[in-house]
Amino acid sequence: MTNAPPDPVPLAVGDVVTLDVGPVAHGGFCVARHEGRVVFVRHALPGERVNAQVTEAREGQRFVRADCVEVLTASPHRVTPPCPYAGPGRCGGCDFQHATLDHQRELKAAVVREQFSRLAKQEVEVAVEPLAGDDQGLGWRTRVEFAVDEAGRAGLRGSRSHDIVPVDTCLIADPRILATGVLARDWTGESAVDVAAPSEGAAVVVAVPSGEADPPIVTEHVAAQTFSGTFEVSARGFWQVHPGAAAAFVDTVTTMLQPREGETALDLYAGVGLFAAALAERVGESGKVVAVESDPGAVASAAGNLAAYPSVAVVRARVDDAFGVPRPQRSGPTRQRAQRQRKLRRHPLLPLRADVVVLDPPRTGAGREVSAQVAALAPRAIAYVACDPSALARDSAFLADAGYALGELRAFDAFPMTQHVESIALFTPRPA
Ligand SMILES: C[S@@+](CC[C@H](N)C(=O)[O-])C[C@H]1O[C@@H](n2cnc3c(N)ncnc32)[C@H](O)[C@@H]1O
Repeated sequence: MTNAPPDPVPLAVGDVVTLDVGPVAHGGFCVARHEGRVVFVRHALPGERVNAQVTEAREGQRFVRADCVEVLTASPHRVTPPCPYAGPGRCGGCDFQHATLDHQRELKAAVVREQFSRLAKQEVEVAVEPLAGDDQGLGWRTRVEFAVDEAGRAGLRGSRSHDIVPVDTCLIADPRILATGVLARDWTGESAVDVAAPSEGAAVVVAVPSGEADPPIVTEHVAAQTFSGTFEVSARGFWQVHPGAAAAFVDTVTTMLQPREGETALDLYAGVGLFAAALAERVGESGKVVAVESDPGAVASAAGNLAAYPSVAVVRARVDDAFGVPRPQRSGPTRQRAQRQRKLRRHPLLPLRADVVVLDPPRTGAGREVSAQVAALAPRAIAYVACDPSALARDSAFLADAGYALGELRAFDAFPMTQHVESIALFTPRPA
């Protein structure tokens, strides 16, 4: 006798199964079960009964992926997707067009809670807040990278696929992006086309890779309650894509950290210096701000954007290199050897103590080593800006190991219609 669960019934790509759909999962899916096998199902909503067609089934994997192709019992939160390209087998850009905007936000909040519960072993309360400038979740995306297919048509990629879906509109794109005519042009010879619609001036179209070697610089204005400023940024560089995001995030970070005159502040993963500028205004000339960023273009822009603040130093380095700690090891002995050979030396401009720290890493998160280094600076407050709640939850556990507790957690609907959500967390030293 063995207590091992029986092998689930095999499912193959193309099979259609009837599912009772369970909770939402990280990644734009809901979780269902079919005769013992987990099914991650897209285009469905929790509580629905649906017919779903298997889209991915790998040998040895105890789960499959599927698309809802027929709704048998609909969720009260279901709506008809406003975009004709949203749906099974079509554009992969939007995950939740079939849900009301309020429900999309509830789903995202559930994902943030679940990630904290699973990865940080912490139960959190959070609601996903809309951003200013949101118009029914449409027309918000001020930067879009279109892929180009073999016929030279601009399009968007399918879900978990390299396939390009040619489109003649994108309802979440800022109308200024569509008005450039990017979707009507022949892009033969290009692999992608980036379009940016900055807060100042006309939208800019940049073909990749044969476009200009140095993409044009655009101007972004931020008019927050706690700060206002102007930033130059490459049309292909990082800038928050929702028009309400930069101001809301600066206000949230500033309110959480309450930077004071004369303090030392760190802006890690600084981009073109958005948070560094806001910190510099608060700490004043008697304080100090160190901004660390690895992308050379962003560093050049940050140097210009922050030139008016004598208290700011911009460090061009990876954050882990600046702390003199090993980079996360992703693969292979060669990489590990390279790690060992790299001289691990702390950057001389990085202070040994800081009062407040902003962490705004890419999707991969900051990681254990960087989290420990940040805690070792003994800041009185850390604001962590996260575009991936799983990275935030993981790093939250690392910060907890290093003596920092989650104080406040907010989340913003910075990417309506998609599964993405931005979270901002405050960490403070755990009382002894
Ligand atoms: C999410 S963006 C945040 C940018 C900026 N804080 C803002 O709000 O505009 C992350 C930034 O981290 C940079 N980056 C990615 N990996 C890095 C690393 N290991 N060290 C330093 N910067 C990194 C990227 O180039 C990007 O500018």
